This record gives sequence, structure tokens and C-alpha cells, in this order.
Amino acid sequence: MKKALVIGGTGMLAEVSLWLSSEGFQVHVLARNKQKMDQLIQKVDSGYISPIFTDYKNESELKKEMTKLDGIELVVAWIHSDAPMALNTILQELSPKTEQFQVFQVVGSRTDLEGLKNSLNLPQNVKYHQIKLGFVIENGGSRWLINKEISSGVIEAIKSNDDVKIVGTVEPWEKRPN
Ligand SMILES: NC(=O)c1ccc[n+]([C@@H]2O[C@H](COP(=O)([O-])OP(=O)(O)OC[C@H]3O[C@@H](n4cnc5c(N)ncnc54)[C@H](OP(=O)(O)O)[C@@H]3O)[C@@H](O)[C@H]2O)c1
Repeated sequence: MKKALVIGGTGMLAEVSLWLSSEGFQVHVLARNKQKMDQLIQKVDSGYISPIFTDYKNESELKKEMTKLDGIELVVAWIHSDAPMALNTILQELSPKTEQFQVFQVVGSRTDLEGLKNSLNLPQNVKYHQIKLGFVIENGGSRWLINKEISSGVIEAIKSNDDVKIVGTVEPWEKRPN
């Protein structure tokens, strides 16, 4: 069975976790809150969601959890900026235990994509992608994306396999919501 890991997969990426399970992945979902995880698991039609309860800011715990995984083909990561080392830790642990894997990192609208990529210590066998969340211009104003739009955009990005995908828009930047 194909295996995926979704970091933060109980929040705005919940629909991504469910889609991957419907696509035949065993989906490991990393988060902290049991209630939100249970709500996600209740929505699974087919396939598996395997919870990993850990705080990604706790590097030693994160490492320990990653040692339990192997053969992960796909990682989708939404990691807050207060855990700058978490993705590196995850990739270093997973990399020796798979031949080739895809990583889709979801980031906020202000992220310097090139700077972020350069800050990562990407293993040779990773194909790394970035998904930037922008905003929507409508009705003479603008607003941030809602969860449904975010998950749909991430699913599109995984399907299209592009190196960089913008969900919504980041231009013109002056039109971003307050
Ligand atoms: N450009 C945009 O339009 C844009 C960009 C970003 C966000 N947003 C909106 O803002 C809302 C709130 O954002 P959010 O960041 O709270 O996203 P969220 O995806 O709703 O929640 C964060 C996810 O990460 C997990 N998580 C958070 N901190 C963690 C930690 N230290 N260790 C392990 N897992 C952790 C959470 O699970 P646990 O709580 O169980 O740990 C949850 O699964 C989103 O729902 C979205 O609609 C919009």
C-alpha cells in the first residue's frame, strides 16, 4: 500500500488527508488534538488514517515518531514558522527508508520561496514542491482563502506536480486583505 504523511492534516488540510485515503494511500496524519483527529477519522469513506500525536516543535519526539515510519512516498506539510527545523528533521529521518519521495510544503503568502528552499537540507531522493497560499480578489475587495479552497488547491498541486503553485493570487500585493 502507498503511504503518505500529512503534517497538520486535521486542520485546513483535512480534505487533503481524506482525498489521499480515497486515492489508496495509508495516510499518517500528524497533529496534537485527539478530538480533531477523531472528527477526521469519522469522515473516512475508504482507506486508512493513522494518527501520529506529537508536537512538531519538540524535535526529539518528532524524530522518535519518524523512526516508526518507512516507505513514505508523499509528504504534505503545513508547519507553522515557530518550528523552522521540523521539516528538515522529518525528511532526514524518512529519506533513508524510501527510494524516492515527493514533498509538498504549504506556506503562507509572505514566504520567500527561494529563501525557504535554500534553508532546507533536502535529501537527494526528495522531489520538493512549494504551495503558496494567497488571497482572493472579489466584489471590489479581497479576502483570505477558506479551508475548502486551500485543500482543493493543494490537491490540484499534487496532481499537477509543478515545482511551485500559488493558490488564489498574491498579486497585486497591495490588494491583500488586512
Ligand atoms: N492565505 C490564506 O488564505 C491562509 C493561509 C494560512 C491559513 N489560512 C486560514 O487560517 C486558518 C488557521 O490556520 P492554522 O495554521 O491554524 O491552520 P489549520 O490547518 O486549521 O490548523 C493547523 C494544523 O496543524 C496542526 N498543528 C498546529 N501546530 C502543531 C504542532 N505544534 N504540532 C503538531 N501539529 C500542529 C493542527 O493540529 P493540532 O491543533 O491537533 O495540533 C492542525 O492540524 C486556516 O484554517 C485557514 O483557513 C489562510
